[in-house]
Amino acid sequence: MTGFSAIRSLATTSAEGTQAVAADLAGLSRAGDLLVLCGDLGAGKTAFTQGFGRALGVTTPITSPTFTLANRYAGAELTVHHLDVYRLAHIDEVRDLGLHELVDDRSVTLIEWGDAISGALPGGYLEIRLTLGDGPDDRVLELRTVGVDWSDREVALLALEPLLPDDGADPAGNERGDTC
Ligand SMILES: Nc1ncnc2c1ncn2[C@@H]1O[C@H](COP(=O)(O)OP(=O)(O)O)[C@@H](O)[C@H]1O
Ligand SMILES: [Mg+2]
Repeated sequence: MTGFSAIRSLATTSAEGTQAVAADLAGLSRAGDLLVLCGDLGAGKTAFTQGFGRALGVTTPITSPTFTLANRYAGAELTVHHLDVYRLAHIDEVRDLGLHELVDDRSVTLIEWGDAISGALPGGYLEIRLTLGDGPDDRVLELRTVGVDWSDREVALLALEPLLPDDGADPAGNERGDTC
């Protein structure tokens, strides 16, 4: 099992806090980007996507695509694709999602549980791993880039304003399993 080496770890204490981080990341995103969201049920993957989509100008409510698998929203300039692959029973079903067609130069794609299909993803991505913190509304968001697509933005990711001093996280000791 490979380790999960986050380049940045951010603590939030509310859904709005997670959405503010998502909005910052939306500000760094560009056409053709892929983001993979991982973390347990209720960790905040959909909440993150709501903040991300709003920041890109999506005005319709973003809801969980758990049953629909894929939703599409019009942003101000880009289309936002929101997928949840939790219910995919077989990797063959990934083909039916048409990921290669979705990830195009007019859209940004976010995939909940995308780490489960990482081998089938069409390119590099930004992975956001959400874990529960001590309090009921505490979360830690760990970011890492996979492949080249986001690697040129690592400096910008490192420069993101922390909402709180993330004193619960140990930047040197965040090697963990990479399954979420
Ligand atoms: N810091 C936080 N970040 C994200 N969500 C939070 C936070 N604190 C509380 N929540 C709540 O946790 C729930 C997360 O649900 P959801 O985003 O649907 O999770 P997931 O998509 O990961 O299953 C929401 O009810 C949200 O309001
Ligand atoms: Mg969800």
